[in-house]
Order: sequence, then C-alpha cells, then structure tokens
Amino acid sequence: MKISILTMFPQLFDSFLQGPVLQRAIRKESLQIEIIDIKDFAPGSYRHIDDSPFGGGAGMVMRCQPVLDALRYAQGTGEGIPQGGNAVSAAMTPAGRKFDQKTARSYAQLDHLILICGHYEGMDERIYSRVDEQISIGDYVLTGGEIAAMAVSDAVIRLLPGAIRDGSTSEESFENGLLEYPQYTQPAVYEGESVPEVLLSGHHEKIRKWRLRESLRKTLLMRPDLLDGREMTEEEAEILEELAKERK
Ligand code: ADE
Repeated sequence: MKISILTMFPQLFDSFLQGPVLQRAIRKESLQIEIIDIKDFAPGSYRHIDDSPFGGGAGMVMRCQPVLDALRYAQGTGEGIPQGGNAVSAAMTPAGRKFDQKTARSYAQLDHLILICGHYEGMDERIYSRVDEQISIGDYVLTGGEIAAMAVSDAVIRLLPGAIRDGSTSEESFENGLLEYPQYTQPAVYEGESVPEVLLSGHHEKIRKWRLRESLRKTLLMRPDLLDGREMTEEEAEILEELAKERK
C-alpha cells in the first residue's frame, strides 16, 4: 500500500520514517510512504497557507487552496497503485471519528491512504467536506495532526505483510476484542516475584487456557467496555462467570 501524509512540517517525520518496522515494510515492498509538504502548494514568496478566520476570533485557519491542491496531487501520484484501487483520504482532527484497531485493519487493506495534518486553530470547513473521513486519535487536542498521523500510520504499517513476525499481531490486545494476556521473559524470578508456574510447564493446552483466562481477567478489570456486546465462546463465558464469582 501507499501512505501519503500531507503536512506543513515534513521535518517532524524524519525520525518516524527511520523506524525499523516501517523500514522493513518498505523492504518487503508492502509499503510506499511519501511526505508531501503543503507549503509547496502555496504560491508566492509568503507561502501563504493560513489566514485569519472570517467573523473574527483568535488564531489562523488553514486555507482551502494549498491543502486541496496538495490532496489532488497526492491522489494523482498513483505510481505503483493499481488503477481503480481503493483509496481513502482522512483529515486528522480531534472532532473526527475515534481511531481504533478495527479501522487500522481496514486501512491496512487499502491501496492508498492519504492523511492530512491540520494545524493552528483548524482548517477551513470546506476542506473537511472534500475528504472521505475525519479521524481523531483521542479526546484531547494536539498542536497539530502530525502526531496523530504518525499514530495512525504506525498502527496500519505494523499490520502490513512482512512488517513484523507472522502471528505476533494476531494475539495482541484488541485483535480478538480483548486485552493481551500478561507476558514474561527471563529471569524466572525477579526481586522475589516469580513467573506463573504454568508458563514454565511446557503444557500447551494449559498455557492456552491460562492466557485466555488472564486476557479476560485483564479486560474485565481495565476495559470492561470491550466486553459489552462482544460475542463470547462457551469457554470464554464460563471463564467470565468464574472470574465474576472470584470478585465477589
Ligand atoms: N489534531 C489535534 N488533535 C488531534 C487529535 N486528538 N486527533 C487527531 N488529530 C488531531
């Protein structure tokens, strides 16, 4: 897939682009990534990207023309993208739909994902109506969409074929709608605290059961909202009943 990121601050992505998982995805030819500088689409020596809001008020608003010309450029640079391939453009904004693992998985299936980073007090509303989606990474306000675009890209890139070891994404938090079970490594005892016996037993079925139970326990404790409306297997339902009894 290709990811295009539109930003006024391309240098913020310098170290992000060096990340080992991202680089592996590029080497495995699962990923092409380009950072597009919105300033390159602003004419004149002022590189006039923002302006004061109509109606008055503090701060500056990003103008339609440079942002939408940059978007059209990104949509047109289809090198390596199959004609008619599926593409999504998403503006990063705290007002957007909350990004989650399900969205990451659906984005990872795209041929082209275009992320637009807003800055200052926001963007001209007419930009939002010309993109496919508005995405937020959480209920807080960042200075700009760059960190949000990195978070979204990171979550998507690690799901691409070859980006990380096969199998290591399938059992982690959220992939099955639960938080991940606790993990341990050497030493078996650290400052008097031991690794659960069962993990040293080599008994695969017991380990699987223990992991499921601990995954459910953690979810129940930390994120009970994830269990609402989630379809349970019979085994999961039984374990949850036991955990509920334990808590009484
Ligand atoms: N830009 C500023 N805050 C943001 C947020 N929470 N999510 C996405 N983009 C943003």
